[in-house]
Amino acid sequence: MTRIDGRTAVVTGAGNGIGRAMALAFAAAGANVTVSDVLAPDGERTVREITDSGGSAYFVSADVSSADQAQHLIASTVDYFGGIDILANNAGIGGGQLRLHEIEPADFDRVIDVNLRGTFLCSKFAIPHFLAKGDGRIVNTASTYGLIGAPKAAAYCASKAGIINLTRQMAVDYGPDGIRVNAICPGYIDTGLGRRGPQLSVEAFRAASAVREKAAGMQPLGRQGQPAEIGEVALFLASDASSFMTGSIVTVDGGCVTTFNYGEASN
Ligand SMILES: NC(=O)c1ccc[n+]([C@@H]2O[C@H](COP(=O)([O-])OP(=O)(O)OC[C@H]3O[C@@H](n4cnc5c(N)ncnc54)[C@H](O)[C@@H]3O)[C@@H](O)[C@H]2O)c1
Repeated sequence: MTRIDGRTAVVTGAGNGIGRAMALAFAAAGANVTVSDVLAPDGERTVREITDSGGSAYFVSADVSSADQAQHLIASTVDYFGGIDILANNAGIGGGQLRLHEIEPADFDRVIDVNLRGTFLCSKFAIPHFLAKGDGRIVNTASTYGLIGAPKAAAYCASKAGIINLTRQMAVDYGPDGIRVNAICPGYIDTGLGRRGPQLSVEAFRAASAVREKAAGMQPLGRQGQPAEIGEVALFLASDASSFMTGSIVTVDGGCVTTFNYGEASN
């Protein structure tokens, strides 16, 4: 089993879904985990799950789009655990199932602010600690929607494509300093982002969920993924098992973007 004993990891958006699964995987592999989220009860629940299983975890409330809160997240982790080794930039929001001309500028900005700027900010404040010891691992959660043009998802697609090339750029800048930066592109994963769709009306959410289920059913593995299946890949990228990987964009999508969706066509 992959181990990261004694390392300290920060996971953003760890109150739910993929971030929670990353936090559980890191803790089970021996890391101290700072669980961060805007939703305190959700983050504290993840902490309890870890500590009830004998792991080490600490909750910090932070909105990753705020420079002050991102700085506080990293500083309080260093104070509490004595350092930071791993940063998982996972917090993210969807965009609301609209075509570009229907999107309000403030709504577009919010998606970019949380998904892309949040990745920048948490990295900005973690990297000086990594530079000081010549070691660090960053795992960014992008999306298959950063690789393709998905329908009615302009802000989300743009934010995730930004994360993908930010990952490559950071790998170039910080490889010589011993800092590895990789990204995961999940496909359709069974989480609240898919189920709840906090920015959608009930009707729009139901329609979006039906589209996701149908799309997942037509991909090579024929189902949505489970958050733990992303958590395990994040653990691999955060561990020494991936020691020669940096700037890699790892799709974990049941084969979704490897194939053209032929639907009912037989040839
Ligand atoms: N679920 C999928 O199918 C899927 C596919 C591809 C990529 N992703 C990405 O995976 C990541 C996690 O998504 P999920 O599906 O687990 O969603 P989720 O909604 O289940 O969990 C996201 C968590 O992030 C938190 N969060 C939201 N805004 C925040 C902010 N400003 N600061 C800090 N925390 C914030 C939420 O409170 C929530 O706990 C996101 O970046 C998402 O874009 C998800």
